Amino acid sequence: MIVRSIADLRAAVRGWRQSGLGCALVPTMGALHEGHLALIRLAARSCDRVVVSIFVNPLQFGPHEDVNRYPRRMTADVAAALQAGAHLVFAPTVAGMFPSGHATMVHVAGLSEGLCGPHRPGHFDGMATVVTKLLLQTLPDAAFFGEKDYQQLLIVRRLVRDLDIPVRIEGMQTVREPDGLAMSSRNAYLSEQQRRIAPVLAATLGDMARRLAADGGAVAAAMADGQARLRAAGFTAIDYVEVCDAETLAPLGRVAGPARILAAAWLGDTRLIDNVAVAPSP
Ligand code: PAF
Repeated sequence: MIVRSIADLRAAVRGWRQSGLGCALVPTMGALHEGHLALIRLAARSCDRVVVSIFVNPLQFGPHEDVNRYPRRMTADVAAALQAGAHLVFAPTVAGMFPSGHATMVHVAGLSEGLCGPHRPGHFDGMATVVTKLLLQTLPDAAFFGEKDYQQLLIVRRLVRDLDIPVRIEGMQTVREPDGLAMSSRNAYLSEQQRRIAPVLAATLGDMARRLAADGGAVAAAMADGQARLRAAGFTAIDYVEVCDAETLAPLGRVAGPARILAAAWLGDTRLIDNVAVAPSP
């Protein structure tokens, strides 16, 4: 089942509610991979009905990022979403989501400003705006997001809290390829040679996490070594490799509590992001 209009989405959800059924939302931009399908399966285990939204949101692409290059395969995505347990696919048009005159943006201060923030101006405001709209259009009991976009997940948690949107935000562990590469729709852009280099990102962050779990004071050295390893492997540019507080994303000089290592690095024209938890030994 696929609906295009907000009115039809609301009518479907209203029908479920009248039958006493709960509802989950899994927001996506399509090009569904195993990570998305795992989210849909988790949502289907947690709630009676699952809406998967498929919307390539132009507001979260910067002026130098090509929204038209983003992979689109609606027919295969709808089939995969339904197969994984979705009951309805919401695929609005750009004009339906942002009718002319749309003027309101959601900005989450602080959390949006570090890490990917300065490298992708406007990205998090565009993401926060569309996620707010999707949540208010669907009004689900729970919405599901992958931890691969860790900064996004924290921003969504904060906007839901700050705007009193009555929804539970569920994060799910990153799903990885057998060689460790985090699943991402953007992996489709990688050449064969780049695909061979790509898993070094996850391996580097994993080794940094083990080192920092053992020696919380070694942050600067771990960051420098991590960056050097990515360059040596063939990453063409590194936006950041940072060790941050797991809740506030404040950069850390030493690890004493729950921390997260986050990185963004380029292979040619393709930007990969990844992150891992650091659990310091007591
Ligand atoms: O993570 C994504 O795919 C997007 O940022 C989201 C949450 C679907 C909003 O467009």
